[in-house]
Amino acid sequence: MARIVGGLATSHVPAVGAAIDLGKTQTDHWKPLFDGYVPAQEWLARVDPDVIVLVYNDHATAFSLEIIPTFGIGVAENFPPADEGWGPRPVPTVDGHAELAWHLSESLILDEFDITMINEMPVDHGLTVPLSLTCGKDSRCEAPEQWPHRVVPISVNVVQYPPPTGKRCYDLGRAIRKAVEAYHEDLDIVVYGTGGMSHQLHGERAGLINSKWDTAFLDDLTRDPERLKSIPFLEYVRETGAEGIELVMWLIMRGALGDDVSEIYRHYHIPASNTASGLIVLEPAA
Ligand code: DHB
Ligand code: FE
Repeated sequence: MARIVGGLATSHVPAVGAAIDLGKTQTDHWKPLFDGYVPAQEWLARVDPDVIVLVYNDHATAFSLEIIPTFGIGVAENFPPADEGWGPRPVPTVDGHAELAWHLSESLILDEFDITMINEMPVDHGLTVPLSLTCGKDSRCEAPEQWPHRVVPISVNVVQYPPPTGKRCYDLGRAIRKAVEAYHEDLDIVVYGTGGMSHQLHGERAGLINSKWDTAFLDDLTRDPERLKSIPFLEYVRETGAEGIELVMWLIMRGALGDDVSEIYRHYHIPASNTASGLIVLEPAA
């Protein structure tokens, strides 16, 4: 039987990917952010999952306004880094786990989560930046020859209104847990939630950051996910800026971990580009 052995959530700021790719992680500006990821790298290396189920959002890269799946699952053997306008990031192709992904598709759809199955999907900074931050050996986050873990990508629409509710996301996480526990192979799985935290990229409130709200979200991710499930879209927009809605993806990770969790580690850093950059590592209670 497969099992979920941990959860990790992190922001996915594209400028963080650029800092890694251009060798700028050790500058005075960036080092405090990257230093904060080393304990999570050590945790991931220790847990050494067979597969990461990585919940992320595409930023009009693989999808566009023509096709907007609310939830999608990558069932391919691999996923190339996407060209987001300045060439693909110099990071390895992401190896999938097609058999597990097809099993998850079947189980989720029978469980009434009608997820879109995706056979071809270049992956943008939403997926590759969290991998770079957590799969490295130190605060330089240099790209390995090959990513150390296979990845089943789960995409969530948080770009085009209306995004799914926090409750729907949390419940999807629970359904992922149920599906994982019904999988025949003995696999250790870590679930990632990505994106956020508070940020707004455009308009009069560009640059908005709300660390008080972010801190309460981090606190309650462990101890009161019931509160987080009921936060409405308008509260995300008002309190965390237009792009803070990416945080609903963290609730998929949280739902997948079961009722009781322990917080293993967290890090919070401002600013990372326009974003408050957050990181949290959770384990299911024994
Ligand atoms: C930024 C953050 C994001 O989540 C994103 O997708 C694009 C840009 C930023 O802070 O610059
Ligand atoms: Fe984003």
